[in-house]
Amino acid sequence: MAEAERPGERRGNARTAVVWDALQPLLEHAGSPLDVVDIGGGTGGFAVKVARLGHRVTVVDPSPDALAALARRAQEVGVDVDGRQGDVSSLVDVVGLDSADLVLCHGVLEVAGDPATALATLRDVLRDGGTLSLLAAQRTAVVIARAMAGQFAEARELLDETGQIGRTGRRFSRDELDALLAAAGFTVTVAHGVRVFADLVPGALLDLEPGMTAALVELERAVAERPEFTGLATQLHLVAVK
Ligand SMILES: C[S@@+](CC[C@H](N)C(=O)[O-])C[C@H]1O[C@@H](n2cnc3c(N)ncnc32)[C@H](O)[C@@H]1O
Repeated sequence: MAEAERPGERRGNARTAVVWDALQPLLEHAGSPLDVVDIGGGTGGFAVKVARLGHRVTVVDPSPDALAALARRAQEVGVDVDGRQGDVSSLVDVVGLDSADLVLCHGVLEVAGDPATALATLRDVLRDGGTLSLLAAQRTAVVIARAMAGQFAEARELLDETGQIGRTGRRFSRDELDALLAAAGFTVTVAHGVRVFADLVPGALLDLEPGMTAALVELERAVAERPEFTGLATQLHLVAVK
């Protein structure tokens, strides 16, 4: 069965399609292989896809288990991905200053120490003109999720949460991410909402008939840049240049 057809991956495809679309022009028309660093790349779902396009990918992650899964995944599809143990605070030591054309930081700013310091580090490892792909949890989505679950007091508290790490990590508003990126010396070129509907749709619905996932992906693409919907997205994806 083809990778994209495995039922367990359908929702995953719907969740990552918009992020992949935003990076595809850079990855597919680079001209020559890029040096890509995926900080907190985990088990390598994204990194392996990037490596399949011929780029040199290094995943830096504190979890040995995740790195082992990454190695298996890369071997399965026959690509090289350099997995190294480390975290944001050790990133410069692990990959070196000015060593990357593209840094992926997906789902990591939520848990990695101080966000401002983390972004400054990511800038340090990027070459001039290099690109940062930042994917981070949006606060409004978790407020909506709590409210929908009847946890109104918790939703109310989360509404005004700023900066502190909760049970499932930090969440950000678009304004906060813009301010953090500007302070770290990045210029935002693309901004999307990711998973506007994908987390709200019951998984069984996607299995009802062929083409449901593809239709959901198309819907996610259509709303990703519409401001009236981006505020509802589970994550914000910002592409920024050093
Ligand atoms: C939510 S997962 C995201 C994985 C992957 N980037 C993705 O988008 O699917 C967070 C990852 O960040 C890693 N992590 C946790 N703390 C970190 C830190 N301080 N620096 C770098 N990575 C960290 C975890 O081990 C985990 O693999």
